[in-house]
Amino acid sequence: MFACEAKVKTMSPDKPKQSFHMAPEEFRRHGKEMVDWIADYYERVEAFPVLSQVKPGQLRATLPAQAPERGESFDAMMADVERLILPGITHWQSPNFFAYFPSNNSFPSILGELLSAGLGVQGMLWATSPACTELETHVLDWLVDMLALPAEFASSGPGGGVIQDTASSSSLCALLAARERATNFLTNEQGCDGKLVAYTSTQAHSSLEKAAKIAGIGSANLRAIEVDESFAMRPELLSAQIARDRTNGKTPFFVCATIGTTSSNAIDPVREIAAVSREHGLWLHVDAAMSGTAALCPEFRWTHNGTELADSYCFNPHKWMFTNFDCDCFYVRDRAALIRALSVLPEYLRNRATESGAVIDYRDWQIPLGRRFRALKLWFVIRHYGVEGLRHHVREHVELAQQFASWVRADTSFELAAPAPLNLVCFRHRAGDEANQRLMDRLNASGDLYLTHTRLGGRLTLRMSIGQSQTELRHVERAWQRIRSEAAAIV
Ligand SMILES: Cc1ncc(COP(=O)(O)O)c(C=O)c1O
Repeated sequence: MFACEAKVKTMSPDKPKQSFHMAPEEFRRHGKEMVDWIADYYERVEAFPVLSQVKPGQLRATLPAQAPERGESFDAMMADVERLILPGITHWQSPNFFAYFPSNNSFPSILGELLSAGLGVQGMLWATSPACTELETHVLDWLVDMLALPAEFASSGPGGGVIQDTASSSSLCALLAARERATNFLTNEQGCDGKLVAYTSTQAHSSLEKAAKIAGIGSANLRAIEVDESFAMRPELLSAQIARDRTNGKTPFFVCATIGTTSSNAIDPVREIAAVSREHGLWLHVDAAMSGTAALCPEFRWTHNGTELADSYCFNPHKWMFTNFDCDCFYVRDRAALIRALSVLPEYLRNRATESGAVIDYRDWQIPLGRRFRALKLWFVIRHYGVEGLRHHVREHVELAQQFASWVRADTSFELAAPAPLNLVCFRHRAGDEANQRLMDRLNASGDLYLTHTRLGGRLTLRMSIGQSQTELRHVERAWQRIRSEAAAIV
């Protein structure tokens, strides 16, 4: 016996077996109640203030200081969900949620999530649950066709797709693979030399800066390229900056273009950016976190022009494709670069299937080792809606946003602050920043709807982001009425 081993009494076969587990019968009963509760929640969600109105610390003040010594009933827990938790919820699934970008979902997705929890699979290796890996590969191949992505992203070639938790993780993985490719896989061994330089636009998501920090590139070595009047990256400035960096002894290695920037949904000119990237041998990653879903519809595929030249690409079904958070689809043209950058193989993970070379082990395609069975919910969503159903709802959201934009255009008190190519409308009252801030605060405090803001051209701008699964014309009409009446009360 090792000194660190616990000394425990051996179990007696005569003692009655004690268990604190929930019995299957109880689970069956509470599970059905829970599904009912969730269905009821969606039926009453419009009755809640969209933005939670609680004060900081309010929930914690109501919770017991210590964990319960004795287990409690499930009914007691659900009573507390109603009494304590619901007031602290900001209702992302309310049809009156117009903030940030959507994080929408659907009943098939919720059921897929439940099934994933029920199976309790950890799919780090093909061998730890072959279905987890193979369904993921298969569904991601479907999406290559569904979005008309480059055929090189499909698993039948040298590339392939994987589900990441978030677009932030995809950008980080892309950056790491690019870093290793650019340094002949030596940075993993020896660390960064401070010369590598990456590029994106001033409008790129903050996750790029975070990735540059985590990957050891350094945020000072992430160049933010200026944008044009539609907030899209200017490729000629990218080219000039790369040339300057080369002259100064730096090593340009990575560019991230965005299809649908977070602030204003600007579409970077991916084809021109790709031409610059290829000319200099840089890895091009395309971040289409929200707007990638638009490519389901042929008429919106212009947003993806040039993606066929990208080294990697991601979009989030957990934003606009009716799939619960978390679910980001990440594709690479050359999976070998990604796998070589991220793979570490300790003895305890060795197995015959891996050694045969015939399987994918997704642990090598991501940062963590462990992974959930996320493909189930995506599979359920795609099978439930079909491509036709997904397109229908995406088109509806775009139509609603275009309708909203037309109302803003027609009202002389307001102005559009940026082009609205899809489902985000950036607008502001002409009375200036302070009035817009007050307008947004009053609307959000009312609980009737929830809007968030950004700054465009230095001016405070409101964002009407339409993508919640249940949002209909009546919600958007009412939002516009509320915006106009609050504005009239302020100005
Ligand atoms: C363009 C873009 N990229 C990345 C992200 C980050 O998404 P995630 O939360 O999946 O990391 C967002 C979030 O809104 C985004 O709009």
